[in-house]
Amino acid sequence: MIDVKMIDPTDIPVEAELDPLPRFRLTRTLVLVGLMGAGKTSVGKRLASQLAVPFTDFDNEIVAAAGMSIPEIFSTLGEPAFRDGERRVIARLLTEAPRVLATGGGAFIEATTRDAIAAGSSTSIWIRASLDLLWDRVRDRPGRPLLATANPRQVLGDLLDRRYPVYGLADIVVDSRRNTSQDAMARVIIEAVRAHDAANPDQPPALEAMP
Ligand code: S3P
Repeated sequence: MIDVKMIDPTDIPVEAELDPLPRFRLTRTLVLVGLMGAGKTSVGKRLASQLAVPFTDFDNEIVAAAGMSIPEIFSTLGEPAFRDGERRVIARLLTEAPRVLATGGGAFIEATTRDAIAAGSSTSIWIRASLDLLWDRVRDRPGRPLLATANPRQVLGDLLDRRYPVYGLADIVVDSRRNTSQDAMARVIIEAVRAHDAANPDQPPALEAMP
């Protein structure tokens, strides 16, 4: 673990005070990990837009590959089949051109997928959030089979307890805060990636500043 790994959005000045963003070339895929409701998709879209690179949402990819919705995959094929598909889809996406990739909440928990992310040309970023914040974001949004239970908040809390130590293996951690906009979070991630690149000169940088 390195010092720059923990970046708090409150350490980054508000948008109005930020210097204009330099133009970058993205050389490694930025893989967003974290629990349901962390903002992987919403922040990921803003991040890709700020960097002018493609954005891919894993959940959309597996739905397209399976030809059915995520709840249907869970109910007709079962969670093990979903996880198998998840491994294969992420492995394929990691071979594609550098982009912002929002994973599903369980992807980084699978050792095979985690190893593929670590071994490939990618940088992993955990968007960490409190249970209260996650719950507020997912409570009225159906479509997440793991939360289709009698006590979804409890399930989310149990997942948080089990998964947070594993998400902590990501290259970078950023904290999601209630009053931070998606654009500001995206900018926080860019600054965190730049700091991570600078702290790891032995690795090719994810973001190369362009003249
Ligand atoms: C899951 C998270 C979901 C989706 C599936 C399983 C998980 O993605 O992949 O319902 O295991 O946490 P989001 O994190 O995008 O909601």
